[in-house]
Amino acid sequence: MIEKLPISEYGGRRQRLLAQLPPRSAVLLAAAQLRYRNRDTEYSFRQDSDFLYLSGFCEPDALLLLLTGETGEFESIIFVPPRDPALEIWTGYRAGPEGAVEQFGFDRAFTLAEQEQQVPALLQGCQQIYYSFGQAQTVAPQIQTWCRQLQTVGRSSDSAPQQLVNIEPQLHQLRLIKSDAEQQLMRRAGQVSAAAHRQAMLNCAPGRFEYQLEADIQHSFGHQGCRFAAYSTIVGSGANGCILHYTENRDVMRSGDLVLIDAGCEVDGYAGDITRTFPVNGRFSDDQKALYQWVLDAQLAAIEAVKPGASFDDPHRAALHVLVTGLVELGLLQGEVSALIEYEAYKPFYMHRTSHWLGLDVHDVGDYRKQGCSLQLQPGMVLTIEPGLYIAPDNEDVEPRWRGVGIRIEDDLLVTEQGYEVLSAGAPKSVGEIETLMATQGENECD
Ligand code: GLY
Ligand code: MN
Ligand code: MN
Repeated sequence: MIEKLPISEYGGRRQRLLAQLPPRSAVLLAAAQLRYRNRDTEYSFRQDSDFLYLSGFCEPDALLLLLTGETGEFESIIFVPPRDPALEIWTGYRAGPEGAVEQFGFDRAFTLAEQEQQVPALLQGCQQIYYSFGQAQTVAPQIQTWCRQLQTVGRSSDSAPQQLVNIEPQLHQLRLIKSDAEQQLMRRAGQVSAAAHRQAMLNCAPGRFEYQLEADIQHSFGHQGCRFAAYSTIVGSGANGCILHYTENRDVMRSGDLVLIDAGCEVDGYAGDITRTFPVNGRFSDDQKALYQWVLDAQLAAIEAVKPGASFDDPHRAALHVLVTGLVELGLLQGEVSALIEYEAYKPFYMHRTSHWLGLDVHDVGDYRKQGCSLQLQPGMVLTIEPGLYIAPDNEDVEPRWRGVGIRIEDDLLVTEQGYEVLSAGAPKSVGEIETLMATQGENECD
């Protein structure tokens, strides 16, 4: 089981990207910067995902410059913070230009201070510069300054690149299809995240606080070797489960309520993203079981729709059909299932989509539509399947017994040649599996 991508993977990605660009192109991509939480205290550093994808380099402020030559040759150059023993006492070890070449496989490396002199010189002769339009605020003004400098020095617009192009379409298409090594990391992210959900089920009890379950999840990630969560953990009990991105996690959990946990770890930058909903006291009531089973059936139907050649929308359509049938059966909606779907009458109960891409970002990059049509699934894509049912506490259109319940069940699926692989299968989700696991509370589970 690999925990980290080999450096050769990053070089291969740069080559694949540059092979798609015309001769005499440059790609400029900036690393993330440190952000301050308050005064001089920083948030944990997380590298920009596009930058990480192409470099594997995890220091702030760096700049990546990739070049294609006249005859198809490539060069990768990086500008990095300098080695500075006095500063490194505070910040920790920096690779410096030498380390960047030796450990990360770049052709050349310079310090950040050398950017102003080196970048315009390296851009000379380039016809187009690619950068991420997502970095329009940070990198674009700098690129324009360098281009103007080249134009002024050469006294001609021929001497400066004339085209600025968005690199995101090509780069994000590469990120959409996961290599074997990426799949292994995401399998690991699914396993670690699933084990944390199991632990949360074992630790849950009436009277404990939502933030204590959040702490249990984080503890489990760390003990399994994953220091970071891929996003802020959601622990919503009772009506808090109806708030889609509830991260306050501040309430006490009550017997008789359900609790919804949406949590996933990061493995070498790759996200897990799992949601499970279970009874705080370990036993579903009959009403909860009825609602839950429809969500689970919707999720299983959506999972069955995942295969190469299916469209990205197929799982959503499959989930909707089951979910709306359930809402009618339970008396929460009245009418024909097809008409209720067409007129979106289900939206008060199910207001989000069933899937998103998953990868270095939890809501990963990649198109969902091409020329107006939903994208076709291909082996190597990873997506979530996460239908939900949310009955707001103030929904007066339904009987009081249904109100204040939020249920979501979310798994991570790799599209394979044969169909799919559920990367998060280790987290129990049937009523029987959950109740059986929770009945073993007190017996120790090891991470
Ligand atoms: N955890 C965010 C989501 O499921 O989309
Ligand atoms: Mn998700
Ligand atoms: Mn999620």
